[in-house]
Amino acid sequence: MAHDVVPNSLEKQWMPFTDNRGFKADPRLLVEAKGVYATSHRGTQVIDGSSGLFCSPAGHCHPKIIEAVHSQMQINTYTAPFGLGHPASFALADKVAQLTPEGMDHVFFVNSGSEAIDTALKIVMAYHSARGDNRHRFVSRERAYHGVNIGGVSLSGMVNNRRTFPVTMPNVVTMRHTFTGDDLNVKGQPQHGRELANDLERHCATYGGNTIAACFVEPVAGSTGTLVPPVGYLERLREICDEHGILLVFDEVITGFGRLGTPFASQKYGVVPDMMTMAKAITNGSMPMGAVAVKDEIYETVTDTSAPGAIEFFHGYTYSGHPAACAAGLASLSIYEEEGLFARAAEMTPYFQDAMHSLFDHELVMDVRTEGMMAGVEVHKDTAPGKRGTQMQKDLFWNGCHVKFTGDVAIVAPMFISERAHIDEITDKIRKTLDQHVA
Ligand SMILES: Cc1ncc(COP(=O)(O)O)c(C=O)c1O
Repeated sequence: MAHDVVPNSLEKQWMPFTDNRGFKADPRLLVEAKGVYATSHRGTQVIDGSSGLFCSPAGHCHPKIIEAVHSQMQINTYTAPFGLGHPASFALADKVAQLTPEGMDHVFFVNSGSEAIDTALKIVMAYHSARGDNRHRFVSRERAYHGVNIGGVSLSGMVNNRRTFPVTMPNVVTMRHTFTGDDLNVKGQPQHGRELANDLERHCATYGGNTIAACFVEPVAGSTGTLVPPVGYLERLREICDEHGILLVFDEVITGFGRLGTPFASQKYGVVPDMMTMAKAITNGSMPMGAVAVKDEIYETVTDTSAPGAIEFFHGYTYSGHPAACAAGLASLSIYEEEGLFARAAEMTPYFQDAMHSLFDHELVMDVRTEGMMAGVEVHKDTAPGKRGTQMQKDLFWNGCHVKFTGDVAIVAPMFISERAHIDEITDKIRKTLDQHVA
């Protein structure tokens, strides 16, 4: 592939979550990628310190995924998914169910994390409705990110994702986030903050627990900059949900498929929710896909209370369980298994975490938080929140490393195929970029 390629003025595409004017004046294009590296349009090499957007633990352009999608495309490029099916989606549902907690063996396919969240909201409504239970309130958390569809924005706790969009779902209340500031530079779960889960209990006291349909949380809040749940926090949420008949939904879009060294965060923390949303690594980022896994009782309640012959759940997407995405999903899950990538993530975790926490001595670093192969390296803000982080992300890129920043936090999430030398390279490049930002 020739480098130094900018295909046109770049003007026609309105880019997502991007400073369009800044990008078009100073573009950063990736023209090819393989394993942990990509190549920019200027021909520079860029190590991927965020697995794309936490999507690609097995590395870019894995040959088995390419082959699987190619083979699938030769025999079937599309099947209408309403009232029809094709074998690959059922095979993938089986594979996903092998990784979800016991008794959570029903899987609904969608095309993204945002669609998974909206689908989960509707499943919650369908379940309570099937039981004749009039619950209409949802609980989420400050600093939460649940995607960009109106359901996800309604549950969102990140201000920039909400303030421009006033028309959201009613009846959503938030709990406080779990960053207390009491524990800085902590590896794994902070000791303080379990009691913040009692915010859910307070909402029950205010609104009536029997009006609350579900509580949505990311087990580790990712997009806000890696906020790890305090010891005992998720357990306490589970207890309160059980006490009041509230469904607990874990949004595992980032934490799913090995990021914490276990298939899902649920297994890492020993807390089983009622439903889980997932996306990203389900196909190693190679094809758009997401899913919602639900406890069998939820599936059975919704299906068994419908009249025989009736469609039980009026929901689905034209591309739910698309053959290419299913082929990519099947290949990805096989790779994770054959290459032992979840175990590899667990083995690499101490080395990765030490490397990240070594950055805490830098004068610009305010906090380092780590859990599994995920870190949040938070820098002191400049004159405005996010200013330094945004500039650092660009500078880091031209220093040869891609890391996703959110405001002033670098969310570092290496691929599971990374060697120690790759972790060192990512860490060194972050340090070099931090040094450049010292006034
Ligand atoms: C926890 C969580 N939920 C939902 C989403 C939305 O996923 P998508 O961008 O695929 O719609 C994301 C994306 O980062 C996420 O981190």
